[in-house]
Amino acid sequence: MSNVLEKQQYYTEKYRPQFHFTPERNWMNDPNGMVYYNGEYHLFYQYHPNGTTWGPMHWGHAVSKDLVHWEHFPIGLAPDKHGAIFSGSAVVDWNDTSGFFEGGSGLVAIFTHADTYPDSDRPRQRQSLAYSKDNGRTWEKYQGNPVLQEESITDFRDPKVFWHRETNQWVMVLAAGQTIRVYTSKNLIAWEFASEFGEGHGSHIGVWECPDLFELPVDGDSNQKKWVLFVSIGNDPNYIEGSRTQYFIGDFDGKTFFNHQDPELTLWIDHGRDNYAGVSWSDVPAEDGRRIYIGWMSNWRYANITPTKEWRSAMTIPRVLGLKKTEEGIRLVQNPIDELQSLRHEKIVIENEIVAPGKNLLANVKSNTFEIIAEFEVGSAAEFGFKVCKGAHEETIVGYDLVKQTLFVDRTNSGEAAFHEDFAGKHESHLLPANNKVTLHVLVDQSSIELFGNDGVTVITDLIFPNQDSKQIELYAKNGEVKLNSLELYTLKTVWR
Ligand code: FRU
Repeated sequence: MSNVLEKQQYYTEKYRPQFHFTPERNWMNDPNGMVYYNGEYHLFYQYHPNGTTWGPMHWGHAVSKDLVHWEHFPIGLAPDKHGAIFSGSAVVDWNDTSGFFEGGSGLVAIFTHADTYPDSDRPRQRQSLAYSKDNGRTWEKYQGNPVLQEESITDFRDPKVFWHRETNQWVMVLAAGQTIRVYTSKNLIAWEFASEFGEGHGSHIGVWECPDLFELPVDGDSNQKKWVLFVSIGNDPNYIEGSRTQYFIGDFDGKTFFNHQDPELTLWIDHGRDNYAGVSWSDVPAEDGRRIYIGWMSNWRYANITPTKEWRSAMTIPRVLGLKKTEEGIRLVQNPIDELQSLRHEKIVIENEIVAPGKNLLANVKSNTFEIIAEFEVGSAAEFGFKVCKGAHEETIVGYDLVKQTLFVDRTNSGEAAFHEDFAGKHESHLLPANNKVTLHVLVDQSSIELFGNDGVTVITDLIFPNQDSKQIELYAKNGEVKLNSLELYTLKTVWR
């Protein structure tokens, strides 16, 4: 095959996302080690380089200047005598607290080494370090690994580290069974136990994994900040939702996290099935000020058997996180990063139209790689929204149910689904119209839907596996009319060719 042809066919396989991150081939799960340094965003990820199912974990590596176009790099961290490389984070050690950088700065990765206890099958998970003096190109494991262990706890993993300015120290949040432990350090090497959070709070229907802890302004007001703790929860056979991520909102004093919500309340970051183990970028410059997040767009319930061949799994698009006061209390908001707008290609605009049964204002559009931003003013229609990736025998419905007051994605009839009995289905979440309006921001990319309702206060992320020719889009209203105040639809360019 000529190089030109190879280039044209790159990332064109069935179901291959065009503007989401996927590895060229083989298995990927959690995002890891996300850090910004010297003009580059690093994304590492749980990677099995020798197969399309979970296996001995490495850290795959990609680099981007804009969080949209990614360059694949060689594997960052590979298993060694201490075991496989499970999830973890990376930070810039600006002041050489670790002593790895001869007084300069550099990158330090803090990750879980996973093996088994000597002469036993019992899993052993310990925290270790690696550092890079060349902008993440090559990594050296720390000689003194592991740096943190605790024999009494089996599930002891996924360190997320950040610099806490107020107390002048490093803070690590770490999943420990069904709690989150906080450790502190002056040098990233010696860690001291500070506190434990979780018992009696939120959901405990699975093992706790992949925590993240950061501060966010409420309604953009930097004088009013709250700390947010993310905790992913593993798949449990008794809960059809599979693996998903909850969050807590409260305060943090450098040692202890205080939950300000009712401990019985569980807040989910996403109401779809396919957003797990997500965490945020470290060291995004203060001038930028964003807290940027990415999640693994799959679910442990079926992640190993989704119907892709060459690779398995994608990341969500990067999202900006915020907090917003709502009628129900302060809630997390997520929205696509602005950088994605650089992919906008053909544009369709509709304004002030009535949507009614039997009339499809998007009948002429065909795409399965696009973005829609629409504002509706609720009327008599019981339900409205979009049928996307629509073909002769399939469609995915993305919409709002005015009767139930729910935002939903219905993938019951979205395409290939037989690989797992729990895949087909409708996923919904309570959402009230705001001033009588509902906004739907939808991103469709071949085999995924991301739906942001009312400026990101409710999010639904779902995989779908439709036929590649199912490209029709229908703007619909059911049992009545709805006013479409505005709609912008953009087809989106690929980032891979
Ligand atoms: C979450 C997780 C982590 C672990 C990693 C192993 O999806 O189970 O807790 O470090 O995946 O690949």
